[in-house]
Amino acid sequence: MVRRFGATVALDGVDLPVPSGEVVAIVGPSGCGKSTLLELLAGLQEPDAGTVSASPAAFMPQRDLLLPWRDALANAGLALECAGASRAEARRAAEPLFERFGLARFERARPAELSGGMRQRVAFLRTLLAGRPLLLLDEPFASLDAITRAEMQEWLADALVEEPRTVVLVTHDVEEALFLADRVVVLSPRPGRVVAEILVELSRPRPRRETVTSPEFAALRARALEALGL
Ligand SMILES: Nc1ncnc2c1ncn2[C@@H]1O[C@H](COP(=O)(O)OP(=O)(O)OP(=O)(O)O)[C@@H](O)[C@H]1O
Ligand SMILES: [Mg+2]
Repeated sequence: MVRRFGATVALDGVDLPVPSGEVVAIVGPSGCGKSTLLELLAGLQEPDAGTVSASPAAFMPQRDLLLPWRDALANAGLALECAGASRAEARRAAEPLFERFGLARFERARPAELSGGMRQRVAFLRTLLAGRPLLLLDEPFASLDAITRAEMQEWLADALVEEPRTVVLVTHDVEEALFLADRVVVLSPRPGRVVAEILVELSRPRPRRETVTSPEFAALRARALEALGL
């Protein structure tokens, strides 16, 4: 599959089968076409050559696009409303999940009153509530500090154990990719091509500290960094 923007070749021959139930992480340098790849999978762009076939997907874009005038509950239920539910039905569907997502008592808060991590959880909850079999997550934890980021990674890993989905996750962070994914796909600098695929055969659930300090994890990290030329 190829995607060009004028003379710029963003993706050149990327072929990415994602088996149902698998968590795939895409890593690669800035500008190598990661967001483009997710938008192609989401059906928001068309390839210039080749085909894309994906299950109906819920897309969490690189910037959290919460609506500032809606409270957290109404933001979380937005995808359901777009699918035809009434606002009251959408709120009722979102409400029971707030506790589990660490958002209890913030149902009526507007995005400006939430922390960065909370906003990302609301955006993620909205993506999850869309009820699609495939989740496309573009740098879901990019703007967070290291501690919140580690918490969010653990929380996402647990959520996926409880509620398994097929996931394509874009990240700059090799450790995040290895911690969360079953398979890490490394892209080259633009034009993006697949330079390595790393199978992450670590059992789940993955307790964070034990996982990231294990020799197996260190070996996988070395392979990923080598593929990235770092
Ligand atoms: N709509 C567009 N029009 C023109 N060029 C575009 C468009 N979208 C992306 N590009 C170009 O395609 C290339 C890939 O962009 P993309 O946003 O997919 O990269 P990325 O890997 O997501 O980068 P980052 O890690 O910085 O988010 C870049 O060179 C970018 O300038
Ligand atoms: Mg991007």
